[in-house]
Amino acid sequence: MDLSTTIAGVRFSSCFMNASGALCVTREELLALGRSRTGAIVTKSMTVEPRDGNPAPRYYGFPGGSINSMGLPNLGYRAYAALIPELKTLGKPVIASVAGLCEDDFPTIAATINAAKPDLIEVNLSCPNIPGKPQIGYDAEASERLLKRVRKVITVPMGVKLPPYFDPAHHEMMGEVIGRCGVDFLNLINSVGNGLVVDPEREVVVIKPKGGFGGLGGTIIKPVALANVRAFWKIFEGRIPIIGTGGVVNGVDAFEHVLCGASAVQIGTVLVEEGLDVFGRLEMELSAQLSKKGYTRLEDCRGKLKEL
Ligand code: DHB
Repeated sequence: MDLSTTIAGVRFSSCFMNASGALCVTREELLALGRSRTGAIVTKSMTVEPRDGNPAPRYYGFPGGSINSMGLPNLGYRAYAALIPELKTLGKPVIASVAGLCEDDFPTIAATINAAKPDLIEVNLSCPNIPGKPQIGYDAEASERLLKRVRKVITVPMGVKLPPYFDPAHHEMMGEVIGRCGVDFLNLINSVGNGLVVDPEREVVVIKPKGGFGGLGGTIIKPVALANVRAFWKIFEGRIPIIGTGGVVNGVDAFEHVLCGASAVQIGTVLVEEGLDVFGRLEMELSAQLSKKGYTRLEDCRGKLKEL
């Protein structure tokens, strides 16, 4: 089965790839991704200075999902800029995820990373885990200001990774912002921020930072992810390609994202839990699902979700 896809003119031989954050911080992790069946190498969201991140335990997997408060551990943008040419020799697209601790960091990082020529840049407006720093994606004005600044220095396709929105008014408002900022693709969604998982036996939280609050991922967030993919697919009538992220642990989950409008899907929790072999399993499962439904390519069913 052909699981290839194209986003903003860039071809991916598989529609499955790692979500930023999952096994993509160090050179070794990124090279291992490059050797795996991932359709692209997505870097950890980078900041100006290298960061160790928050104190451990900072990730916890449970049946149905995960909670994390990593705190942006990363090598700093200069290291990723230096690594990108090597990553590009591995024969698959490289997506650089750009973050920052304040608005001014983003254009600084974006300019240098752009010069290293990743295939695409994803601007992360939605890290929920830095104490005292709200998610930019929940502030429409700040998002617009920032996107207009980074757009000026980015010449490769520019995407935006958004937090989940829970009201159509917010989908509309961010849709208008995105429509004004020259965004080439969307990645929906980042983790569902500031959940709380409790161990009732020990009567304690399961991760250390922020009193146990952290970003949720995995199966439990799939309906939220699908809703956001569908909402933005409808707003742009399919004209802005979407990477669907959230709750994909098997091939049918990926099929659901594609029906809602996704051109590719990223995996976080299941990649951390299962390791790099998960890509082969997901390819087999999605291929089986497409065959069963009589489809030969992703385009045949993309966005074709029916309503009652
Ligand atoms: C982190 C978590 C996220 O969900 C994100 O979008 C960015 C960073 C983190 O804590 O490292």
